[in-house]
Amino acid sequence: MQNLTRLRRYKKFLTFLSDSGMIFLKGGARQRMNSKPIAVFDSGLGGISVLRRLIQVLPEENFLYFGDSANAPYGPRPTEEIRSLTLENADRLFSRGAKALVVACNTATSAAIDTLRERYPNRIIIGIEPALKLAVSRHPNGRILVMATDATLREKKFATLMERFAEHCEILKCPCPALVEFVERGELEGEALQKVLKAELQAHLTPAPDAVVLGCTHFPFLRSAIQRVVGDSPELLDGADGTAKETKRRLTEAGLLRTGSPGKVELVNSLQTPEIFALSEKLLSV
Ligand code: DGL
Repeated sequence: MQNLTRLRRYKKFLTFLSDSGMIFLKGGARQRMNSKPIAVFDSGLGGISVLRRLIQVLPEENFLYFGDSANAPYGPRPTEEIRSLTLENADRLFSRGAKALVVACNTATSAAIDTLRERYPNRIIIGIEPALKLAVSRHPNGRILVMATDATLREKKFATLMERFAEHCEILKCPCPALVEFVERGELEGEALQKVLKAELQAHLTPAPDAVVLGCTHFPFLRSAIQRVVGDSPELLDGADGTAKETKRRLTEAGLLRTGSPGKVELVNSLQTPEIFALSEKLLSV
């Protein structure tokens, strides 16, 4: 009887190891695997807002950031197209040896996270979703404005999230198709931006929301400009911290954390211009 229990425990342990992709790793091989980078992917430069937080939470990790600026924005594209671009990019990043993938794009997460996990069942894949749970916990029964891309707001994933929380608060959906390109151009302030923000947000500001969820990873770079339009009272929230902490939790659980010295960050972009690299570095230091 005791042997049977032991056998079951051992089998459970083996399943855990195999699910986490660790089963064949020992000593030096494990160390080499732990030093592989965490890939962070976005349709463009927005995911750098998540990368910043990841570096703070996991300073000893190596990161490989890939921005698909040549194909940005993803938001206005059909779901099937977003899915196939995301899969293509994930394939590339895993073939470069990434030990985990952070999909730092709400749009790509909504369209492709399930397919990605089916394709790579033994890999650590973390997505991001609009920080509605955080907003509701901080403002129960509040009025919550969610800014995101068209694709994020139309997908089933967001409908399910909304259903979970609609009972506890008023949720207003605000698609903001024009904002991503401001960030891709590095235009984080200015009259043209204020004009677009006013046009997109004005209809939802009376009465003032209690919280504004920045449900696209490009939007944290527009934080000051958005705050100027919505006023001082609404709290602006995003999902970067939750995603970074979840990444740390998953790597710890799988025994894949890198420790010992500060990690390196490599920035890669499908648009290979000096301007895009300069802007990526600038955004990383904002
Ligand atoms: N940064 C992406 C997100 O979080 C979307 C940007 C785009 O439309 O490409 O949804």
